Amino acid sequence: MSSGPDAETDLRTRYKREAAERAVEFVESGMIVGLGTGSTAIFAVRRIGALLSVGALRDLVRVPTSAATEAEARRLGIPLLNAGDGLQGIDLTIDGADEVDPELNLIKGGGGALLREKIVAQASRREMIVVDDTKLSSRLGKQRPLPVEVIWFGWRSQVGYLESLGAQVSVRRSDGGAPFRSDQGNFILDCAFGSIGRPAELAVQLGARSGIVEHGLFLGLATDLIVAGEVGISHRTRS
Ligand code: A5P
Repeated sequence: MSSGPDAETDLRTRYKREAAERAVEFVESGMIVGLGTGSTAIFAVRRIGALLSVGALRDLVRVPTSAATEAEARRLGIPLLNAGDGLQGIDLTIDGADEVDPELNLIKGGGGALLREKIVAQASRREMIVVDDTKLSSRLGKQRPLPVEVIWFGWRSQVGYLESLGAQVSVRRSDGGAPFRSDQGNFILDCAFGSIGRPAELAVQLGARSGIVEHGLFLGLATDLIVAGEVGISHRTRS
């Protein structure tokens, strides 16, 4: 049997696909469906595209959460809703996450799409999160920094504010070294808080600051969690 980093990557990729494809089993013809962003959610986009192409699903209205997901959906010939037309009544959104706590609270934004993802999540009746089991965490912040999206104007003052809240802040950069820009043209500050004891309190502090456009704490938004790993696939709903 093969082992090593490549085999581990292959396995993680398989788990991501399994979780995403299980979620697509909940998509029904005629639904309005939110399409998430990232290396896990993309498997759901592809599966939906395949089912549409053979007529197993029909008349879906789809809402992408990022320019990257929109591009992939267009490549697959999946028709999309113009987000400017309004997002009311999304039946089901399938999206990934960077970290998930036992209450199904999340850190998202590793791909930089947190703002649109949260807009779509808040407009969704059902927010189904699909992950491999490495994303599970006893407490948010233990494994991943919290992405915070800020407008460029005065962005350095946000660094000071975030540090005053206890974060070690790094400016996210693109491969070429320039600051990463979100789909909205904003900067992302990755904030290592360590274990976040009171996420709701932190969310209020972040929401109160002008210049912070959005943060990656998704609290009380996930209704379903599908996890794939060595022990198989599990599906939990938030009670
Ligand atoms: C995109 O901004 C993120 O919120 C993703 O949903 C999250 O980072 C999960 O991505 P992966 O499935 O690629 O790990």
